[in-house]
Amino acid sequence: MADRYLHLTGTAPGRFLTRRLGLPQPAPLRRWTLETPHLEGPLLHLTAGASAVTGVAEALSRSGLPVVGNTDRPAAIVLDATGVTTAAGLGDVHAALHPVVRSLAPGGRIVVLGTVPSPDDHHQAAAQQALEGFVRSLGKEIGRGSTVQLVRIPGGGAAQAAESTLRFLLSPRSAYVSGQVIELTTATATPGPGPAADPAAPLTGRTALVTGAARGIGAAVASVLARDGARVIALDVPGSREELERTADRLGATALPLDITAPDAADRIAAAAPDGLGVLVHNAGITRDRRLANMPADRWASVIEVNLDSVLRTTDELLKAGVITRGGRIVATASIAGIAGNTGQTNYAASKAGIIGLVRSLGPRAAADHGVTVNAVAPGFIETKMTAAVPLFIREAGRRMNSLSQGGLPVDVAEAVAWFAQPDSTAVNGQVLRVCGQSLLGA
Ligand SMILES: NC(=O)c1ccc[n+]([C@@H]2O[C@H](COP(=O)([O-])OP(=O)(O)OC[C@H]3O[C@@H](n4cnc5c(N)ncnc54)[C@H](O)[C@@H]3O)[C@@H](O)[C@H]2O)c1
Repeated sequence: MADRYLHLTGTAPGRFLTRRLGLPQPAPLRRWTLETPHLEGPLLHLTAGASAVTGVAEALSRSGLPVVGNTDRPAAIVLDATGVTTAAGLGDVHAALHPVVRSLAPGGRIVVLGTVPSPDDHHQAAAQQALEGFVRSLGKEIGRGSTVQLVRIPGGGAAQAAESTLRFLLSPRSAYVSGQVIELTTATATPGPGPAADPAAPLTGRTALVTGAARGIGAAVASVLARDGARVIALDVPGSREELERTADRLGATALPLDITAPDAADRIAAAAPDGLGVLVHNAGITRDRRLANMPADRWASVIEVNLDSVLRTTDELLKAGVITRGGRIVATASIAGIAGNTGQTNYAASKAGIIGLVRSLGPRAAADHGVTVNAVAPGFIETKMTAAVPLFIREAGRRMNSLSQGGLPVDVAEAVAWFAQPDSTAVNGQVLRVCGQSLLGA
């Protein structure tokens, strides 16, 4: 559904009026296109104190942006704050960013590099944790469609582990991601297939199965994974067969009409992917909203069954049977409702919080036992059929109550899934990435 307010603030009279009234000023976000795959402008590389990781300059040189030490108009700024170990050292963060923050181009990116806080050194832990409050606050004040994130690299590690993450965050693919903290693991814990042979089609040779792929976010995920070279199997309920087949035909994908809650769902998926799965995306989801006092058991049960139980069951069975190949990627779909809670959604929020629990618990074990990573996206307000059905006032609030003052698009979630799926995202495991424009809900 069109965001008329965003359109209005894109016109001179609309901008004048809404500014006078003190209303939100959403900036149009630039997404990835084949013609403009990168941000336009240089990347300013700054360091607060001495770096505590190796290879930051090399990792940035592969981000797709020209790296400079000085510029008037950076498209992106990366501040290496991995060496900040004391409260006094936080002064170096201020000293580095204060003079340049205003010069960031509209739609720009700031990425702060930190380390995983140490359990044995509370001064270092305090200083590194301070970066989280800093980044989340800067994300709220930076405006003009720019975003700010914190990437934690394991102490003493190499920035190489962060390459796929930096490529994503420093590109138009992460347009609707802001205020996020990504904690990388040591890549050796999750041996993967290494860098892609073809950077333009990094998923070449892999099969990706996406559930709930007939429409909405799932169709966008299927489309982006196909763009990245994957052979896609698009799964949706038999009742959506026509829509599913249209989507699959458009993408050159295989349609698999199947209810994911069917007892033999894992077997049918395995049969549809005889060479195994490199990427499994659990996207299918339903809502059956009612306040708890009015919620019958069947509405509770159906949401838990589709959104959580079938995800647990099929994941377990497919991992056990070795259908998800080594170096494989599992991506599940949570929601900011699972973080913040929402009136009328005790069932839905419980199911989505359950996904977060699944990802955090299974990630390290799946890496150790199967060489597979497990992550989740947690979308905020995304413009789909699901949100078009929300009453007008709540819909407008959902769109504006985030740092970017607008709803996201299905492709924004899809790009995050594709980042998790990258062959060199081996150090990204057990993470929950909110794709919500830094929503105030659950912040
Ligand atoms: N749209 C948003 O703002 C938003 C926000 C947070 C989370 N999410 C989550 O993102 C995912 C996709 O949401 P969407 O907005 O695209 O929803 P949607 O309703 O447009 O699409 C969901 C798809 O899942 C399919 N599906 C439902 N039950 C299924 C089952 N048992 N087996 C197979 N397929 C099934 C549906 O047929 C549909 O095609 C869901 O998990 C949803 O909870 C969406």
